[in-house]
Amino acid sequence: MTSLSDDRSVAQRILDHIDSQTTDMSETIWREPLDHYRSAERLAAELALVLRRSPTPFCPSVALPEGGSYVARVAAGTPLLAVRGSDGQVRAFRNACRHRGTQLAEGAGCEKAFVCRYHGWTYGLDGALRHVPHEHGFPGLDKATRGLVPVETTERRGLVFVTQEQPALPGFDLDELPELIPPGHRLLGTSEIDIEVNWKIFTEGFLEGYHIRPTHRDTFYPVQFDNLNVVETFGRNSRIAFPYRRINKLRTVAPAERSVDGMLTYVYHLFPNVMVATFPTNIVVVVLEPLALDRTRIITYALTDRPEGDSDGRAALSTGQNFVQAGAIEDRDVACAIQRGLASGANEYFEFGRFEGAITHFHRGLHAAIDSMAAAHNGAAPA
Ligand code: FES
Ligand SMILES: [Fe+2]
Repeated sequence: MTSLSDDRSVAQRILDHIDSQTTDMSETIWREPLDHYRSAERLAAELALVLRRSPTPFCPSVALPEGGSYVARVAAGTPLLAVRGSDGQVRAFRNACRHRGTQLAEGAGCEKAFVCRYHGWTYGLDGALRHVPHEHGFPGLDKATRGLVPVETTERRGLVFVTQEQPALPGFDLDELPELIPPGHRLLGTSEIDIEVNWKIFTEGFLEGYHIRPTHRDTFYPVQFDNLNVVETFGRNSRIAFPYRRINKLRTVAPAERSVDGMLTYVYHLFPNVMVATFPTNIVVVVLEPLALDRTRIITYALTDRPEGDSDGRAALSTGQNFVQAGAIEDRDVACAIQRGLASGANEYFEFGRFEGAITHFHRGLHAAIDSMAAAHNGAAPA
C-alpha cells in the first residue's frame, strides 16, 4: 500500500490552501553545491551508484503491446532492448550482439526474432541465440551460453522497470507504488529531444509550483494557481499536485463524491530520473537520460484513454497536448538559462526553499544513495 493520500483528501487540502492562501511547505531548506552539477566524478557516481542500481522505468507497458514488440534505447549509458515475449512477459537485455557487439535493434517495433545486421546471428524473443550462419567457423561455440545478456526486469503499475546492476539500491518497493497508468490507456506517441542541460536541473523543474506565475504566465498560470501545491513523498519518490482553478467547483460537491479528474495535474517523480504527469486528456511519462554533464535526452511517452475513432476526443487531446507542449518549452528555456548560469561564478550552491520540498527530497535521496553505495564499495557496511 502506498502512503499517499486519497484524492478526496488532496482536494480538501487544496481547497483549504485556496481559502487561506497557503501551500504545502517542507520542514527545511536544502543547499546543493554547484559542483554537483559540474563534476564528472559526481555524474559518474550518479550513473554507477544510483541510476544503474535503481529499478528505473524504462518505458510504459503499452509501448510493448504484443508478443515481439520492442523498445531499444540507451538507459544510464547502457544500450538496452526490452521485448515482450510470446509468453506475454517483458524481458530486457543488454543491446549488444554476442558475436562482436552490434546493437540488435533500434527505436521501437515488432519482430519475431532479432537478426544481427552485421553477420546474421539470430536471437529469439527470449534472448536465446538460435542461429549462427556458417556455424562451423566457430568450433566449440556453446550457443546456450551466448544468448543476449538479461537485465532484471519487472512490469508494475503500467510501467516496465529495469535494474541494470546488482546489488540494487535498497529502499525501493515497487509494490508500494500507487496506480500510475490506469488500464485502458494506449500509446499516442514517443518523442526524443536532446537539451544542453544537466539532468538534475531539468528534474528540479517538475518538482515545484513556485515558478508557475513568473515562468508560465500565459500558459499554465491562467488555469492553475501560483505556488499552491500538495507535496507528498513515498519512499524515495514524490508526488506534487498542481490544482486547476476549476477545482473550486468541488466546493458544491459532497466531500465523499469528489473526483479530482480534470481538476489537477499530479506529477509523480519516480526516483531518480522519471516523471509521470497526469493531464485531463493524457498521461505523459518523461524519462531524463543523462548524456553528459551538460546534456540530457528527454524521452516522452504520451498515453491516452480516449478512444481512437472519437473526433471530440481527438480535438480535446490535441488541445491538451498543445497546452502541455507550450509549458514544456518554457520549462526548457529556463533550464537552459540555469545551465548557462553555472558558469557565471555567482553561486556556490542552489538554495531550495520550503516551497521546493520535493527537490530537497530528491537531493536527499541522491546523497543518501551515493554515500551508502560508495561506502559499500569501499568495503564498509552501507549506512
Ligand atoms: S556482430 Fe552480430 S553477427 Fe557479428
Ligand atoms: Fe514549469
